[in-house]
Amino acid sequence: MTKEELKNIIMPRHIGIIMDGNGRWAKQRGLKRSEGHKAGANTFRTICDYAAELGIESLTFYAFSTENWKRPADEVAAIMNLFRDYLFEAQEREAENEAKGMRLRYIGDRTALPEDIINLVDTLEARSSDKCRITVNLAVNYGGRDEILHAVKAIAKKVEAGELKADDISLKDIDGNLYTAGQPDPDLIIRPSGEYRLSNFLIWQAAYSEFWFSDILWPDFTTDDLDKAIIDFSKRNRRFGGV
Ligand code: FPP
Repeated sequence: MTKEELKNIIMPRHIGIIMDGNGRWAKQRGLKRSEGHKAGANTFRTICDYAAELGIESLTFYAFSTENWKRPADEVAAIMNLFRDYLFEAQEREAENEAKGMRLRYIGDRTALPEDIINLVDTLEARSSDKCRITVNLAVNYGGRDEILHAVKAIAKKVEAGELKADDISLKDIDGNLYTAGQPDPDLIIRPSGEYRLSNFLIWQAAYSEFWFSDILWPDFTTDDLDKAIIDFSKRNRRFGGV
């Protein structure tokens, strides 16, 4: 997108992306599924950098769901390795990310992740906490229902401790206890690969999101596709229940 085009467009503040189609991309090429995830991780890097250039505030990438543990062990390990590689790379490129104003956030249940990954995530989050031109949320072992359950438990504990009355529980309390607390809800959710469902992604936050679907498989998704999704989004008439 040119700078001129950018000026005349309503940009989404937060974009959620379901990185789908890696397996089919690999199959089409006679490759292992893990090769598809590797190609998908490279697309993730490209899209991340481009979104930062466009000035998107928050980006959330769905990389591994709470249900994805059902996949073969070698595939799960391959995805965790790609996640680990990216975290190492982010650590190495700290200065570069700082210049971009990129803040890394993890969303999901980190307790089930390998310990070295938990440590890397904790370190990176702490180090990049004050750099916030763009927040990149990585959803790994993430599930929307699990996130809501986690929030409900945190609120119930406050009620149990007598800090909050059940009747006083508000939408803000729920928002504030989600993994995405403090970030705007996704304005736009992109799902490539010809599937038309949310698959437990940001189910609370997506109440008023606009959706953009496409048949492109995630590894083939380009910056032009992101432009198309954003331009399409900018033409939508969002009413949030009003008229
Ligand atoms: C869905 O496609 C994709 C995943 C479950 C994994 C996505 C993970 C990555 C792109 C790598 C993660 C890396 C980082 C840096 C966070 P699928 O395998 O279900 O595709 P299919 O429907 O074609 O089989």
